[in-house]
Amino acid sequence: MITYENTKTVYDLVENAGKEYSDKVFLRYEGPCIQKDDVESIRPKILDADMMVFVTPLYYYGMSAQLKAMIDRFCAFNSSIQQKGMKSALLTAAWNADSWTFEALEAHYKTLVRYLNLEDMGMVLGYGCGTPSTTKLSSYPQQAYELGKRLP
Ligand SMILES: Cc1cc2nc3c(=O)[nH]c(=O)nc-3n(C[C@H](O)[C@H](O)[C@H](O)COP(=O)(O)O)c2cc1C
Repeated sequence: MITYENTKTVYDLVENAGKEYSDKVFLRYEGPCIQKDDVESIRPKILDADMMVFVTPLYYYGMSAQLKAMIDRFCAFNSSIQQKGMKSALLTAAWNADSWTFEALEAHYKTLVRYLNLEDMGMVLGYGCGTPSTTKLSSYPQQAYELGKRLP
């Protein structure tokens, strides 16, 4: 994997805009986070892990604000995530069961997989899972279990 060594900050990113880089050249978007909070202890745990599992209810056709807020904090350790090449999965539940229910979330997840250099191990899209009891009666918990069992 090639890294774009000259680029260390978001300011460099702007300065170097237009220079040639492909999907495989990762900008070094990394550093200590200006926000001093619990993410300081979560960061090494994420970077120690082999896999990230994104788990969220569907809220207005996207992920929950809570999960998005965590992903936004990756900003301070993007390069480490990209260079590690972690596995990932998406587990989600929604009230609706229309065919297009998860289109936007699925597209967002796949874009994150691409950008963060993750290896997608699968998605469990829980259509018609508006309450814990409907979810329990559905096939989705078993699908999630089988996804876990398939992992190398
Ligand atoms: C704020 C909010 C937004 C929601 N938006 C959607 C939606 O866009 N599409 C959908 O099918 N269900 C939507 N739902 C239903 C939830 O996805 C579903 O009920 C889920 O199982 C709730 O999980 P929770 O109990 O963890 O909030 C929404 C629920 C809430 C509370």
